[in-house]
Amino acid sequence: MRSRFAKLYPRSDSPRIVRAPGRVNLIGEHTDYNLGFVLPVALELETQVAAAPSNDDWIRIYSANLACGTQIRLDDIVSAQPRSDWTDYAIGIVRELHLRGYRLRGQNLLVESNIPQGAGLSSSAALEVGIAMALAPGADAGALAELCLAAEVDFAGVPCAIMDQFACLFSEAGSAMLLDCQSLVRRAICLPEHASWLIVNSGVRHALGASAYRRRVEECAEALRAIRAVAPGVGSLRDATLDHLKLEMSDTARRRARHVITEDARVLALVEAVENADLTQMGTLMTASHKSLTVDYDVSCAELDTLVDIALAREGVHGARMTGGGFGGCIVVLLNENAVAGFLSSVPQEYESRTGQKATPYRCNPSAAASAIP
Ligand code: GLA
Repeated sequence: MRSRFAKLYPRSDSPRIVRAPGRVNLIGEHTDYNLGFVLPVALELETQVAAAPSNDDWIRIYSANLACGTQIRLDDIVSAQPRSDWTDYAIGIVRELHLRGYRLRGQNLLVESNIPQGAGLSSSAALEVGIAMALAPGADAGALAELCLAAEVDFAGVPCAIMDQFACLFSEAGSAMLLDCQSLVRRAICLPEHASWLIVNSGVRHALGASAYRRRVEECAEALRAIRAVAPGVGSLRDATLDHLKLEMSDTARRRARHVITEDARVLALVEAVENADLTQMGTLMTASHKSLTVDYDVSCAELDTLVDIALAREGVHGARMTGGGFGGCIVVLLNENAVAGFLSSVPQEYESRTGQKATPYRCNPSAAASAIP
């Protein structure tokens, strides 16, 4: 990283480097913007951002993966316009730092990542957090989480919630993070040592900015409005119960709310199963989550369903589900360690022969939050 930075910016000082991990969500999908519970894990897959002051008032950001960059003068940052590509996350952070009074100087940045994009492993939050930490060293992590989310919602235009930024900024190695998206209280959940986790990328790319995610947010709001018309004490779908689903609302809104209500319960039940080291129950809950996302929330796709089916048919697999926003991306699988080799040697092949798509598996070793690299 350092030598590539020196080649790209020969007149710059030696840069500070920040690593920001991707994340996989074990359970609790589409619950964050409904102020419920999520259980993400930070990954070893990460984005690194190197930054050093430039001698002018330009911010230059170069992506080694995409072999292209963007640049903007600090004076122009407030009037910057989104371009609907990766630069929105980067420029959005610079803009948000500026708007919040961080005193920025010109900087040269280099970004490099091994998190697959559009795979539901939160490459965008890793980019945001990496750039924010590189430009505002020493800033409070809670403030950065909020700032990164604001950049994503306001500048990149994705109406998402806080899970990804929190997972990136607060995860602990070896643990998942139970996050209450209403109070933002989080608890590290130590995962059973004999549990192995694999992520398998379906090779189908999801476009999170796509209208479907936005539509789900609106459909949940519609369900909430219907419930609040009769039960004004219900502040979010997190407070709703299955009884509320008997109220007058569209069938779509009812199914979306049913997913959210049952998914919140599954998160808490999974945490209990983790604490009892009950892999069978953990797996059952993960698979039930997938079914709910498929049937009630309509965010899965044929390839993800096929991948889950193939995974579940393997001996030693306790459960599997799609993870992230959906419409493609990855599944996450809970299995016995002695089943991993057999899984890796057979599942991608079977998936390819059934769908024509290439599956890429990753080991999921719960890693630590974003940090500066000494
Ligand atoms: C995306 C968003 C998250 C969350 C998930 C679905 O990853 O960035 O905030 O809503 O979808 O659980």
